[in-house]
Formats: sequence, C-alpha cells, structure tokens
Amino acid sequence: MELEMKEETKKLNDVINSNNFRDLVKVLDRLGRLSSKFDKKPLIKLLNHENDKIRALSVKNLAKLEDITLLENFVNLINKDRSSDVRRESVSAIGRMRNPINKEILIKYLDDSDPEVILQAVRGLLVFKDDQKVKNSLTKLSNHPNEMVQEVIKKEFYGNGTNGFDPNHTLSPDFMKNVTVQGDVRDILKFTPDESVHLTFTSPPYYNARDYSIYASYKEYLDFLEEVFQEVYRVTKEGRFFVLNTSPIIIPRAGRQYSSKRYPIPYDTHSILIKMGWEFIDDIVWLKPEASVKNRNAGFLQHRKPLAYKPNACTECVMVYRKKTDKLIDWNIKQYDKNIVEESKINGDFESSNLWKIDPTFDKTHSAVFPLELCNKVIKFYSFKGDLVFDPFAGSGTLGKAAINLDRHFFLTEKEKKYIERIKENVSQSKIFSQNKFLPKFLNVNNFKEVVKK
Ligand SMILES: C[S@@+](CC[C@H](N)C(=O)[O-])C[C@H]1O[C@@H](n2cnc3c(N)ncnc32)[C@H](O)[C@@H]1O
Repeated sequence: MELEMKEETKKLNDVINSNNFRDLVKVLDRLGRLSSKFDKKPLIKLLNHENDKIRALSVKNLAKLEDITLLENFVNLINKDRSSDVRRESVSAIGRMRNPINKEILIKYLDDSDPEVILQAVRGLLVFKDDQKVKNSLTKLSNHPNEMVQEVIKKEFYGNGTNGFDPNHTLSPDFMKNVTVQGDVRDILKFTPDESVHLTFTSPPYYNARDYSIYASYKEYLDFLEEVFQEVYRVTKEGRFFVLNTSPIIIPRAGRQYSSKRYPIPYDTHSILIKMGWEFIDDIVWLKPEASVKNRNAGFLQHRKPLAYKPNACTECVMVYRKKTDKLIDWNIKQYDKNIVEESKINGDFESSNLWKIDPTFDKTHSAVFPLELCNKVIKFYSFKGDLVFDPFAGSGTLGKAAINLDRHFFLTEKEKKYIERIKENVSQSKIFSQNKFLPKFLNVNNFKEVVKK
C-alpha cells in the first residue's frame, strides 16, 4: 500500500517534470481514489499551472481529499482564477467537505455572476438545507434568471414531494383503449380526460401541401397545431413523451416571376412546444433513400450556378419531447411492475444513433403514411407494454396497427371518413384480437362523448 502510494506520487512527479501536456492530463484524469496519506504537494503546485484544464483537474483531485487545510487554496482560485471550470471545481471541492464552517463561504458564492459557480454552491449548501440561514439564502434564488438554478431551487423547496408510487401512472381509461374517433381532434380532445395517455406519436397535416390540409395562412396553421398540442400536453401523463414527425415543406411558386416558399415547420413548432411546457429531449433524423424523394437537382445539374443550389430533401425530423416534471425518467420506470419492464426491454440490435434509415411506405388510400418500422421503433423506445399510445392525426392508422402488434393499446382520432375505413382494414390485419379484451371500436364525436360520461 505504502509502496503503491509512493509509486503514484513518483509517476505524477515524473509527468510534471517531463512537461508533456497530454500525459499530464491523462494521469490527472485517471488518478482514481486518493488515500489520506497522498502527498498533495505536487497537485498544489499544479494549481498555478498555465493551462486551465490542468488547474481544473488538479482541483478535482485535491477535492477527493476533503481536506479543510486546502480551503484557502480553493477560495483563492474562486476569487482570482479566470477559468469557469477551475472556479466551479473549487466551489464543488469546498462543498464536498460537508463542513458547516464553510456555509458562509458558499453562501457568498450564491451571488456569483457565473451560474455554474452558483449551482455548485447550491449543491454544497443543500446538505445544510434545514439550517434557517441557508434555507433563506437558497430560496431567494427561486426567481434567479438562470433556468437551471431556478429548477434546482424549485425542486428542492417547492416540489410536490411525492416522488413515490402513483398507482394511476400505468393505467388508462378502458373507454379509450383501441378506440378510433372520427372527427376534428380539437372537438374530441375536449372530452378526453387529463393524464390519460402514455405516448403520443403523430405526423400532422402538412401546411397546404396535400389536399386534406387547407389553411388560410401559415399563422392559422401554426395556431391550429398549437391548440392541438396544448391538449396533447394536458392528456399526457406526467413525464411521458410526445414524438412529433414533421419536415420543412415547400409551396410551389405562383408563376415564373415568383419564388417558391419553404416553411420550416419543425423549427416553428419547436418553440411553440417549449413555451407550453414540453421539455426537449432529442432530435431524431429519419433518412429516406434519395431515389424515393422529389428530385430538386435538375436545374442545378444544368447551370451549376451558386445561390440556385437546391438539395434533395431526404430527411424528416422526429422530435422527442417530455411533459415537464421534476421527476427523473427512473421515476416513470419505477411505476411499472418489474415483469412489464422486463417484457418491454428492447433486446438485440437497436438504433444507436439519431439517424434512422427507413424506407418510406406508399399506401393505396392515404398519400402520407408512417412506415410501420418507424412506429415500431418509437413505440418500443418510448412506451411499455399495456400503455395507451395516441395519434391525433391518425390517417391510415399505422400507429394503431403497430401498437396492437407490440401489446400496447391505441387511441386514434381522424377527421376523414375515407381514412377511417383504411384504419379498420389496417388494425384488423394486426395481431389476433381474440387475445385482447379491448376489441377495436369506431366512434363519432357524440358516441365518444357518451362513453366518456358513463
Ligand atoms: C400526415 S397525415 C397522418 C398519416 C398517418 N401518420 C398514417 O400513418 O397514415 C395527417 C392526417 O391528419 C388528418 N387531419 C387533419 N386535420 C385534422 C383534424 N382537425 N382532426 C383530425 N384529423 C385531422 C388528415 O385527414 C390526415 O389523414
């Protein structure tokens, strides 16, 4: 042990003397646990190193000693160092000592201009959160301009405190299971109970790009989506997901003297969703083969002139959002019986990146359907067996078909009668319904209103 320690110090001294930056970073990064007998002098010397990263790593290692005699070194760095990383690590090192003597010092850094420093001071002080002075200083930050600082304080002092089991989380109303309602989604959602849905995956109508979606203006279109997504937020269970598939669309030019116009739907809907409380989780890109999309290269292929370049649009956005909560995803998982969690696991190959290569599907009735593979992936990654998955713009009902095949329930809404017929065909092709006690039901808005009332 003694020998090992000497070895460690020697190794550290050797790299310091060799002045090899990369080796020094590597050694400092991998120093591991330090015993109380560790010779801290070489690390203290490195606190004056010219490189920010070396100074920050040295602080990080010294912090492991939880040694009060180092307090002055850390305070000096917080007050004088120009690197945010070094200052943050130094506050963290003081917090890590968990020594009540340091309370006053940490309180002082709650006023720092660097939110990272404040967050570290908050972390260090939360150990003493029952101390009235600490509590007062921390709660003053509940309106701090930085969102991360605000979130930590709100969670610690104003959270609802029910991090336990919610028996309703895994349940959904029977009257929504495997039900398709024909009508305007906005009318249907008025009767849909709060927090009844586990996952929504949808592809909304495109702005004036297809015959089923005529809006007076782009603003009217975005307002319509906002109204629907606000309701989706309400019906979604705490901490659960909303996956939205859209892509920028192009409206052809009105004549030779005009230009065509491109509308960045995913980017415009993103800010609307964030404003209503959805938390951004991931941006998945669905990549289609170039041969399957409209060719926009023809003109450029001939003239090759800059500015008039038009790439073929082979991708669509699959944006992933989560209903805002102060609970971790682990809380959502823990609500489920462990057998359900086990059975819902995604075994074998999975999409390891956010680039999903999937061929588009062409349907005999509907002009813009989800590929079944895309629905399968979204359902598997973002729901558990037995959950209720929702598509407000169901079209041909691909999501319903996938849900049944994967032992989930679906709830679909679709405006057009002709597509309801296609949904009937589609879901009846799925897994034998005799195993399922919820046979598919097709209702209109009034029928749905009645079943909700019962
Ligand atoms: C892009 S398609 C969805 C296709 C679907 N993902 C599929 O796999 O077949 C959008 C659908 O939204 C429907 N729709 C448009 N406005 C609606 C509204 N206000 N209420 C319900 N459905 C609507 C359209 O009729 C269209 O079928």
